[in-house]
Amino acid sequence: MAVNERFLRACRREPVDATPVWFMRQAGRYMPEYRTIRAKYSLLEICRQPELAAEVTLQPVRALGVDAAILFADILLPVIPLGLGLEFAKGEGPVIDKPVRTLEDVQMLKPVYAEANLGYVMEAIRILRGELSGIPLIGFCGAPFTVASYIIEGGSSREFLKTKAMMYSAPEVFHALMEKLSVVLSDYLVAQIRAGAQAVQVFDSWVGTLSPRDYEMFVLPYSQKVLEAARAENVPVIHFGTNTTTLLPLMKRAGGDVIGLDWRVPLDDGWALLGQDTAVQGNLDPALLFAPLPEIKTRVHDILRRAEGRPGHIFNLGHGILQNTPVDNVKVVVDMVHEYSVQSEKVP
Ligand code: CP3
Repeated sequence: MAVNERFLRACRREPVDATPVWFMRQAGRYMPEYRTIRAKYSLLEICRQPELAAEVTLQPVRALGVDAAILFADILLPVIPLGLGLEFAKGEGPVIDKPVRTLEDVQMLKPVYAEANLGYVMEAIRILRGELSGIPLIGFCGAPFTVASYIIEGGSSREFLKTKAMMYSAPEVFHALMEKLSVVLSDYLVAQIRAGAQAVQVFDSWVGTLSPRDYEMFVLPYSQKVLEAARAENVPVIHFGTNTTTLLPLMKRAGGDVIGLDWRVPLDDGWALLGQDTAVQGNLDPALLFAPLPEIKTRVHDILRRAEGRPGHIFNLGHGILQNTPVDNVKVVVDMVHEYSVQSEKVP
């Protein structure tokens, strides 16, 4: 297979033959091939067996024709060597046995050595680089805030009340936790790059729950550390969040060659908030993959029209693929993005 340069070129804002497209959570339960493996192994078992993680990573690459692969892992894996216990309970999402609430809890966190404690992730990357022939591999970690929110809440949350209560009532505890996480996550991301990840994404999925003021005080310096550590390794860095329209300029300041745009902001407006010196990734609503084809087509075209063929657009959803998404619709979007973006180059 010829080397597919579209994705990496777009990250660097270089011209491309067609707009690159991949999907957050492109491996997962909406795919029958994934469900077959998942019937035999738990999520953590798949992550911890590099051959299985590699296989699951390759499934959407084969089935969809996407321009990038994302390593199959989870943002919460570093919670295990931190000593907090992690389970994925059926229907409940992640559960952390020992949530962090006090300064003593932060001080009890174990040091994490990525190669020694999360070596299975690096091994999956090494296997994949041998098998992916030409499709670039994206590594990833959670951003300190999003990981901290799970660690403080003990699992998923809607209101992030325990997290915010700590920020406002015990800021020294919150800062100590963020400091610790920024070191662990930087080290983990750098290890992935050294193992062969050709780009990395930092997922700050839930940061949109914060005001710009709180983002600047409590999040920006720590995200910046992780993003800068990755950037020093000379691979493109994608900085992703949702509900971030008011945070985009601050996220840009924190760092990233590419910034994620969800569907709540029109692509061109979001890009204008960031400026032309940043590449963007997004911004189809994941729910649109459940719509009739003509509606999907209209929305895909709208996003490409707003991008105006400018270098530095990576097509993606505004957030991860939802469960029960029809696979055929995902495939149709890949083909539409490629066809329409090539066509629009020819049409003045
Ligand atoms: O294909 C890919 O994108 C790579 C794999 C991937 C997973 N998790 C596997 C997974 C990635 C990139 C993640 C990141 C992740 N994990 C995020 C950030 C991205 C986002 O969606 O905002 C977050 C917040 C998590 C934490 C997490 N993991 C939650 C909240 C859940 C439960 C929710 C759910 O969908 O059940 C998980 C479980 C998880 N991680 C699944 C997968 C494929 C669910 C499927 C399963 O149980 O097999």
